[in-house]
Amino acid sequence: MSKSIEVNDLNVYYGDFLAVEGVNMRIEPRTVTAFIGPSGCGKSTFLRTLNRMHEVIPGARVAGEVLLDGDDLYGPGVDPVAVRRQVGMVFQRPNPFPTMSIKENVLAGVRLNNKRISKSDASDLVESSLRGANLWNEVKDRLDKPGGGLSGGQQQRLCIARAIAVSPQVLLMDEPCSALDPISTYAIEELIGELKSEYTIVIVTHNMQQASRVSERTAFFNIDGPGTPGRLIEFNDTGALFTTPTVQATEDYVSGRFG
Ligand SMILES: Nc1ncnc2c1ncn2[C@@H]1O[C@H](COP(=O)(O)OP(=O)(O)O)[C@@H](O)[C@H]1O
Ligand SMILES: [Mg+2]
Repeated sequence: MSKSIEVNDLNVYYGDFLAVEGVNMRIEPRTVTAFIGPSGCGKSTFLRTLNRMHEVIPGARVAGEVLLDGDDLYGPGVDPVAVRRQVGMVFQRPNPFPTMSIKENVLAGVRLNNKRISKSDASDLVESSLRGANLWNEVKDRLDKPGGGLSGGQQQRLCIARAIAVSPQVLLMDEPCSALDPISTYAIEELIGELKSEYTIVIVTHNMQQASRVSERTAFFNIDGPGTPGRLIEFNDTGALFTTPTVQATEDYVSGRFG
């Protein structure tokens, strides 16, 4: 179920503004890849191009290729909704539907895809997705209660359950722990460690310790200054990127000299 992503010469625009320039990168299946870099260098922008969420912003577009196991996500006739089913996304702020029940939150993506699903299949999917997100034991007795009643960390795991309920091949996470307390952060990090046996995971994080803890590969992005495009500066095994970076800017960033 896990797929590779290959990015070739990708430029990402907001109207005339070139926000990210010339990215070439291969993301391996069943691995966690972290994106790090100073604020504004285009991590979120680039991440959103990997499931065609970027183009929902008016005027936003890309040039170049993003291949999912060799198939161009931006090829002619490719349905962006089908892309997003294969490449799920979890955001910075947990965004469950607050008044919708926990159960219906898990099923929301499936229902959006117009999949008919029997009552018993729905219950099985709710349980397996919540188990997959390490949330089942905490919510199994309150599945019909609103998702908004959960703690922040539980809401984020509910969003992960919703994302995995549609059986994606890739999970994109944009600073998924930045709104969470340390205990919830730990729970999400543990979960990422488990999910990587089934999914290709890409996580944006501003926390370098987190990148070291959860990822095998790390990509460092940077910008020269305001108004200039973000670029991929260095991409390597996480240990190597943090201990023996080959580019001065990477070393400056990972040693805390800027950003
Ligand atoms: N919706 C948008 N419209 C126009 N410009 C945007 C939009 N979102 C982000 N940008 C710009 O793109 C650049 C990269 O931003 P972003 O991807 O959010 O960086 P990061 O996630 O690394 O902090 C910034 O210059 C930012 O102002
Ligand atoms: Mg961001």
